[in-house]
Amino acid sequence: MTNLESHTQSLPALHRVLVVGNGGRENALAWALKRCKGIETVWVTPGNGGTEDHHGCIRLKIEETHLEALIETCSLHRIELVVIGPEAPLAAGIADGLRKAGLAVFGPGKKGAQLEASKAWSKNLMEEANIPTAKHWTVTSEAEALSILENLQKPLVVKANGLAAGKGVTVAQTVDETKHAIKQAFQGKFGTAGEQLVLEEVLEGPEVSIFALCDGKDFVLLPTAQDHKRLREGDQGPNTGGMGAYAPAPHLNNKDLEEVKALIIKPTLKALNAIGIDYRGVIYAGLMLTKSGPQVIEFNCRFGDPECQALMPLMGPELAEVLHACALGCLGKAGKLSFLENYSACVVAAASGYPDNPRKGDQIEVNIKSNESLQLFQAGTKCNTKGQLITSGGRVLAVVAKAENFEDAFNQAYEGLKKVNFEGMTFRRDIGHQVRKS
Ligand code: AMP
Ligand code: GLY
Repeated sequence: MTNLESHTQSLPALHRVLVVGNGGRENALAWALKRCKGIETVWVTPGNGGTEDHHGCIRLKIEETHLEALIETCSLHRIELVVIGPEAPLAAGIADGLRKAGLAVFGPGKKGAQLEASKAWSKNLMEEANIPTAKHWTVTSEAEALSILENLQKPLVVKANGLAAGKGVTVAQTVDETKHAIKQAFQGKFGTAGEQLVLEEVLEGPEVSIFALCDGKDFVLLPTAQDHKRLREGDQGPNTGGMGAYAPAPHLNNKDLEEVKALIIKPTLKALNAIGIDYRGVIYAGLMLTKSGPQVIEFNCRFGDPECQALMPLMGPELAEVLHACALGCLGKAGKLSFLENYSACVVAAASGYPDNPRKGDQIEVNIKSNESLQLFQAGTKCNTKGQLITSGGRVLAVVAKAENFEDAFNQAYEGLKKVNFEGMTFRRDIGHQVRKS
């Protein structure tokens, strides 16, 4: 018997998985998990119009924060692993509730989810653990914020403390703009999420997303990915959830990644442990690679969307087993997670009006045929009463292609996108500009 066999045999059997969430991230996770060895069925709740396009994936219409219904469904379908995709159910403590009911869950509990749900809490943890991050000030009133600005006399980043669907951050260019962002937040622009603000020094450098799959004590890193947050080409326009991504991001070599592990991920897990948090899920570190080294811009408690869509086609067949082992707190018992040495390109198609006021209800024409190197992952879609696929959210879908180089991967992804259409379809033509020649 090889070492790997003896290891994997000590994990309980895994055939039946539930993915919680309705986005493109969950669509891609379900697709990738179903491809793993031993997996028979992946249920997705509440899922979207594309869930059942993936063989072996079944949609259930249960809201992602409806704990009792989730527990009931896990018992009905004899679910062996629950993977929670979005931050909202994690921040609401759904993972805690499912664990209490005896389920293996990949996703942190409510306390751990504060890494994302409270920027002030997260910055405090970083400070105490000596994790490199921008200098910051936490404020609870407009007067306090304005007096800090008055003293500093330089533009700052203004962040709503709570969850604001990726819209709670202003990277101000001027002192006046900083002032305006502070005032708007205290006038209630982000609701209760903006009652407390984190003001930060502006950092400069390329950004990269790091994903650590954690079992409470130990972790494994996925390949790095690069998101494209701005709506418009040339990285202009408002911040969005992400208009495209690619992986791996070339900015960090293996030595840099070792540094990121030692300086950022290890101390974060250790600091969480020290305050009694058994963190089983993703630590997503958004880094800025500054002249003085990598700095944490933000932590999230889940996979990035659309980074996850770019990453999933690169995952080896051990993914399900690795998430299961993380959920059970014994990563060492899983086989080593392998990755295809390919390059992955993901382009998002959004509805017109996204991010502020996305148009909904338009019929979607899909003539794309997925194959081993090309996938369509749906997000803001649903089927209407006539069985037609229609738009139902801001980011509607993503086309993802993998190839031996970025040029081919992006060419295929954009070719694939030509075979999808809906009224007002909006996408950036320059996703991957950092790594493409043309
Ligand atoms: P966050 O939601 O905290 O990731 O912020 C959204 C985006 O704002 C990030 O992806 C960065 O592009 C930008 N950002 C956040 N914090 C900073 C900072 N301290 N300096 C410069 N840009 C920042
Ligand atoms: N793509 C950025 C995020 O998921 O927060």
